[in-house]
Amino acid sequence: MVVLGCETLLMEKTVAIIGGSGLVGGYLTRVFKEAQGYKKVVPTTHSIQRERFYPLDITLPEQMEKFFLKYHPDVVIFAAAMTHVDRCEEEKELCLKSNVEAVKDSIRFLKKSGKFFQFVFFSTEYIFDGENGPYPETASANPLSVYGTSKWLAEEFIRREVENYLIIRITGAYGLESAQKNFFYTVRRHLTQNKMLRVPNDQISSPTYAGYIARTVRYLVERGEKGTFHVTGNTRISRSDFARAIAERFGWDLKWIEPVATADLEQKAKRPLNAGLIPSKTAGMNPIPTLQESLDEFYQEYKTANRCQT
Ligand SMILES: NC(=O)c1ccc[n+]([C@@H]2O[C@H](COP(=O)([O-])OP(=O)(O)OC[C@H]3O[C@@H](n4cnc5c(N)ncnc54)[C@H](OP(=O)(O)O)[C@@H]3O)[C@@H](O)[C@H]2O)c1
Repeated sequence: MVVLGCETLLMEKTVAIIGGSGLVGGYLTRVFKEAQGYKKVVPTTHSIQRERFYPLDITLPEQMEKFFLKYHPDVVIFAAAMTHVDRCEEEKELCLKSNVEAVKDSIRFLKKSGKFFQFVFFSTEYIFDGENGPYPETASANPLSVYGTSKWLAEEFIRREVENYLIIRITGAYGLESAQKNFFYTVRRHLTQNKMLRVPNDQISSPTYAGYIARTVRYLVERGEKGTFHVTGNTRISRSDFARAIAERFGWDLKWIEPVATADLEQKAKRPLNAGLIPSKTAGMNPIPTLQESLDEFYQEYKTANRCQT
């Protein structure tokens, strides 16, 4: 019998990153490409054409089938979703189509090929009601919003239908992003343009650097782990204090941050307030960064990226 080393096994694998154009998908694409051991890493894009990204609309099953037939991926990392929580409330049908039906379609097409596959799905702390966070992986779900419900429905389907699955629950992801829509950019826009940022002081969560999420996912995939994992930083903090921590690290003026109650913002979707995730299962696997450590890492990355652009 020929015993294959890890490298040889990687060389044989094709990794599909559905939603490679997004915040987390972007980091995943870089992390898996940098690994350089894979046969192929195929990220997808949706709203904007990008070089070396496969254009794919997950709400169109015929496009999805074509994609899976073309690449027969061994690892599917499903990072695409309708992520705008308030828009999900207004466009429930599209939200369920993108966040639940598209997941079901992928799994159906993958099963059709009869090949072994690993399926990685991203979920959220919004599956919890925020009554008694932070939540471990084993806590009971009780979503308050359409977005949270869509993620929980997808989770339940995956646990039922897929043998080799990883459900990665994350929250408050931040990092470099071409669309510049994660919370870091909201803070930057307001504070560098001297505009008041009204930000909740009663939404408690565990913000997480997307680079750390991507590295941890790669680690879990390559170890062949299965199950549901919380992948977050280990600092639990309110949104307004998080905005302050960003401002302090990047040297921006804190006076533009106005802490307010969530109720004052009149958001369409209800948010879990006393939330946050406990990354209990990854705790023994790798050192989980504090918010300050992650902001330091991100700050260096941000500075390098901005230097490259000028
Ligand atoms: N960011 C967070 O704090 C957070 C927290 C909890 C859970 N999550 C989950 O983690 C995953 C990644 O989040 P993210 O922050 O990276 O999201 P994101 O930046 O909003 O990216 C979403 C991705 O989905 C793609 N997409 C949306 N609709 C699509 C469609 N109809 N067809 C094909 N692709 C479509 C987008 O493509 P285009 O950009 O090309 O349109 C983009 O690549 C999502 O499942 C999200 O629900 C994120």
